Amino acid sequence: MPPSRMPRPRRYLVCEPRYFDVKYAINPWMSENTEVDLDLARSQWTTLTDTYRALGHTVESVEPHAELPDMVFAANSALVLDGLVFGSRFHAPERRPEEEEYAAWFKVAGFDVHRPGAVVEGEGDLVPVGGYVLAGTGFRTTVEAHREVQEFFGVPVIGLQLVDPYFYHLDTALFVLEDGHDGRAANIAYYPEAFSPGSLAVLRRLFPDALVATREDAMAFGLNSVSDGRNVLVAPQAHALVEQLAEHGYEPVPVDMSEFHKAGGGIKCCTQEIRA
Ligand code: ARG
Repeated sequence: MPPSRMPRPRRYLVCEPRYFDVKYAINPWMSENTEVDLDLARSQWTTLTDTYRALGHTVESVEPHAELPDMVFAANSALVLDGLVFGSRFHAPERRPEEEEYAAWFKVAGFDVHRPGAVVEGEGDLVPVGGYVLAGTGFRTTVEAHREVQEFFGVPVIGLQLVDPYFYHLDTALFVLEDGHDGRAANIAYYPEAFSPGSLAVLRRLFPDALVATREDAMAFGLNSVSDGRNVLVAPQAHALVEQLAEHGYEPVPVDMSEFHKAGGGIKCCTQEIRA
């Protein structure tokens, strides 16, 4: 029998996909002139946020901006740990104006926002788990930003080299199952081939009991999942991973975000956690 898993209530920041679109191509999932079914996107997103609330989580939202079609991907806006907000500096000029929109939301919500000097895309590449921050680099977030994150939070940053352009953000290749917050064993799930050999060895060393996903799971955005320690909101297309989660005592909660896959995003990309 798998051990029973305990959920912990979370605080999430999201951005309604009122103006979601694929207007430019800044990752291999995107192509210009892609048709987006906005009604479908809105209903998928509403299911996601309704699901969070039904599970007892707090969901807050930032006002979307008509000129910012990727603003729905709230996870790129910051890393928030112990009430400290490390803001973002986007790689693509198209997304730069989002920095100000999100910083303004955090300020109104009562947080000071650290504005970084180097390119860094929030929880897209910065994943806190087990007393570390796992930090992706290779496509977006820079190693210089990793140093800045470590200085800012005083938490050890573990750099991980991403090597496959389809998995351009760390949160497309890895997610946290259990963050280890209250002394429980931290654990993750990941797709090995997204990482350089050395980075993969680091993951194996730190998380010997991790769930290892297939390329099919990863291409279905299965690693772009959100766990509260028990319930795992996961793409239903990631069949093998959904099964593995159940075998390990987690509660898979399928949420289909297929319309957002056209922009290279899924469940986690739409979800910024506020750890206050
Ligand atoms: N189109 C967006 C980009 O390329 C998608 C961002 C997905 N977000 C994430 N956390 N992986 O920047």
